[in-house]
Amino acid sequence: MRKQIVAGNWKMNNDVKETKSLLKNINKGIKKMSLKNKKVIVAPSFTNLNTAISVTKNSKIKVAAQNMNAAKNGAFTGEVSANMLKSLKVKTVILGHSERRAYFGENDAVLKEKVDSALAQNMKIIFCFGEELSDRKDNNHFKLVESQIKNGLFHLPESAWKRIVLAYEPVWAIGTGETASPEQAQEMHAFIRKTLSEQYTPELAENISILYGGSVKPANAKEIFSKADVDGGLIGGAALKADDFLAIIAAL
Ligand code: 13P
Repeated sequence: MRKQIVAGNWKMNNDVKETKSLLKNINKGIKKMSLKNKKVIVAPSFTNLNTAISVTKNSKIKVAAQNMNAAKNGAFTGEVSANMLKSLKVKTVILGHSERRAYFGENDAVLKEKVDSALAQNMKIIFCFGEELSDRKDNNHFKLVESQIKNGLFHLPESAWKRIVLAYEPVWAIGTGETASPEQAQEMHAFIRKTLSEQYTPELAENISILYGGSVKPANAKEIFSKADVDGGLIGGAALKADDFLAIIAAL
């Protein structure tokens, strides 16, 4: 059975104090929920990972990083390695977010290296991809998504996929208030599963969790999550408010 996941990508938000307070409030709300077959993840910035790990120590919340460098160590000023993350007990990393692709030059080749490095160091990956509005207008969105998945992940052996969660995030829906319709999300997720089934096996395609991201809010979460091939969400803005994040978890 596929895992249902709600992951909060905090992006470049929250200082230490805000991290503590937000997580304490999420913790409080989560205690009252039954999370059977559901997973809750938060991804604060590097500087808040240690705090997040300690505040969530006895809770059901898992902590992920938003990025990592592919190199093991060395002269890479300002970068953070998988080993550093693991030493904080952070075992999951988000890779391929559209903001990393657009603003930090992370192309498919860079991401492939990061994927390999993370897996070599036993990390789990939330791998993001998604089309720009122009791709959708040109009816090129399926091809584009297929190529992002193919170039970043299709070199992997089947066994590696148990460490991977996919996140479809159409760029035009991120932070814009414009969500993909539940039907558009379902259509793309079904396409991704079909692509995986053809490249690997139907079992692998059936068992992989595929999250949707892009303006998920308490008001639209339930409808999006109700779609057969949507296994949860990667949440940006609404993950920064405990009540909203909890309402989205409750919608799962
Ligand atoms: P928003 O939920 O703010 O649109 O962000 C989505 C996202 O980019 C999560 O990674």
